Parts: sequence; C-alpha cells; structure tokens
Amino acid sequence: MKQILVTGGTGYIGSHTAVELQHKSYEVIVADNLSNSSLDVLDGIEQITGKRPLFEQIDFAKDQACRDFFAKYPNIEAIIHFAAYKAVGESMEQPIKYYRNNLLGLMNILEAMSHHGIKHLVFSSSATVYGQPELLPASEKAPFQPATSPYGNTKQISEEIIQDCLQADPQLSAIALRYFNPIGAHASALIGELPLGVPNNLVPFITQTAIGIRGKLKVFGTDYNTPDGTAIRDYIHVVDLAKAHVYAIERLLNNQFQTPFEFFNLGTGKGRSVLEIIQCFERVSGVKLPYELVGRRPGDVEQVWADTELANRVLGWSAQSSLEETLLSAWNWEKNYRAKNQ
Ligand code: UD1
Repeated sequence: MKQILVTGGTGYIGSHTAVELQHKSYEVIVADNLSNSSLDVLDGIEQITGKRPLFEQIDFAKDQACRDFFAKYPNIEAIIHFAAYKAVGESMEQPIKYYRNNLLGLMNILEAMSHHGIKHLVFSSSATVYGQPELLPASEKAPFQPATSPYGNTKQISEEIIQDCLQADPQLSAIALRYFNPIGAHASALIGELPLGVPNNLVPFITQTAIGIRGKLKVFGTDYNTPDGTAIRDYIHVVDLAKAHVYAIERLLNNQFQTPFEFFNLGTGKGRSVLEIIQCFERVSGVKLPYELVGRRPGDVEQVWADTELANRVLGWSAQSSLEETLLSAWNWEKNYRAKNQ
C-alpha cells in the first residue's frame, strides 16, 4: 500500500480526496492544523470508507514541527498539499497571515521532499490565477493576471516556487490542479463544506439561507455583460474534483508525466450564472430562496469557465456530475449536518 500524505486533509477538498484515495487502497496520512476544520471529519471518512486514516495535527509553516513530522513518517511516496488559508476577504485584511501560512508551509514541504527523497507533489491551485481571462473558456495557457488578493497571489507565487524547486532538484515532479468553483458534498452527506461564520462563497450561503440560518441571499451584480446580467462561474462537484487528485497522483507515481511540472484545469467546462444556480437549487431542493439583487462585489470577475480539454485528454479525467445532483448533495449535507448539530 502506497502511503500518501494529504495536508489539509480534514478540510473540504482534502477530506473528499482522502476518501477517494482510500477507495483506491492508498494508505492516507491526514495532516492538518485544525484551524478551519475538526477531528469529526475523520469519523466521516471512516464511516464512508471503513478505514480511519492516520492523523497528525501539525502546522507545516512551523519549521521544526515539519522536520519532526517527516522524520516520523519515512515511507511517504507522494504529497497532496491542500493546507492553506483560502478566504479572499480575510487575506486583504491580514495579508501577512496568508503569505506566512501558505508560502512557508509549501516551502517547508518542498524542502522536506528533497531531504527525504519524496518525489511527487500535487498542489492545490486555483482558477484565480487567470483573473478575468481574455479568452473563454480559460485554458492552461492563459497568462496569469495580476492577483486581486493576497490569497490569489499566494497561489501564483506557490506555483512559481514549485517551478524553481523542480529546476533545482531533478528528482522532483509536480502537478498543479487549478480549481474552478468546487461545490457540493459526498453523496453520503457525512462530509462536506463547513465554513466558519458567515460564508463568503455562493453555495454555502444558499444552503444556509435555505435552512434558515441566513435571512436573505444577496446576488452580487446584475449588470454584467452576461445573458442574465449576473456573474458566471464553473461550478464543479467536489467528489469529481477529489477524483482528479487520484488521477494526478497515479500519473506522478507511474512516471507518466510529460514535463516535471504540469498544470490542469479542474472544471466542468460549463459556465453558470448566479441566477441559474439559484433556480437550479430551488428546483432540486423544493425550497424557495429569499434573495435580493445588489451591487457588484469588489474584486469579482465577470465570467470564467474552464477549458477542460487538457485534463480530459492528458489526465484522462472529466467531471461526471450534473449541476442538479451537485446542488442536491450540498443541500443534503447541510440538512444532515444541522440535524446532527442542533
Ligand atoms: C472565490 C475566490 C476564489 C477562491 C474561491 C474559493 C474571488 C474573486 N475569488 O471564487 O479565488 O478560490 O472563492 O474559495 O473572491 N455570490 C453572490 N452572493 C453571495 C456569494 C457569492 O452573488 O453571497 C456570487 C459572486 O459574486 C460570484 C459567484 O457568486 O459571482 C461565486 O462566488 P464565490 O462562491 O464566492 O466564488 P468566487 O468568487 O468565484
């Protein structure tokens, strides 16, 4: 059984990825500082897969803790690095927190990889690197746009740091997966997205409004140059996204990569407006969503969706879930979580 380290493994995408890796019989070490997630997630992973992953509470931004961790686990074959802060607004208010955590964590991990001969890294990147692309759908060849937040900047800089480290150490190989908008939850409703406080992202805000925790959803911007005037994104089921990480890990472990650093967009290839998401959610949940139309949210791009050709052809992966089942999974998770935690 090959051992895979999943940093940030109790988080939203990390936990779904741990499940998919265990389904494929990898031995998973979940490592997380629990700053934005809880140990209960391990129960969910165990209930779904019948196996509890190994777990370490650790902050990879701390040099000594990182060194101690890798000394303790000498058999890791590859790393999927999710552990990072991701709130765009917070990153504007506390940029150093973002640069310190997201960049030091990555650098410590890369250093440990060279030191311990761990060859393969899958990095959690974001479509935010493209900003508002000139051409749609956004392909991996689209140039980076200046980042609109420190969070976005950490993703761009992280990709550059990885590139430099791969040049310095020819043993290393990496894949950066650029996520569009991950939403939804595992079909079991045992794991899902759990934002702290008021959600910034659309779908958690929708499900929390539908269940009555939030009064009204605000639709940010109705004057975009899109068919219904609201902004367009590419919403992808988190389980489809998680599966892509297994494809990436296998590509690395089997030395199938064409260059030491590869990049893949993870999206559905379809753009949906905010109003389309609301209507689809109402249809699948049967809940009428209270919402109001308000002004644009600063920093938002107008429209972006993925060119998935490279991921389909080269990685051999494609998103399978419909928007309906994806939104329904988010709703089932919200209902299940609230029923258990009221
Ligand atoms: C945001 C980040 C992105 C990050 C991702 C996941 C920006 C510019 N981008 O993506 O870097 O990787 O989250 O954390 O912040 N919306 C509403 N009402 C709401 C919430 C959102 O109308 O209450 C709209 C937004 O204006 C946007 C769409 O829904 O048009 C999606 O928003 P969101 O879920 O926050 O994702 P992004 O902004 O695309």
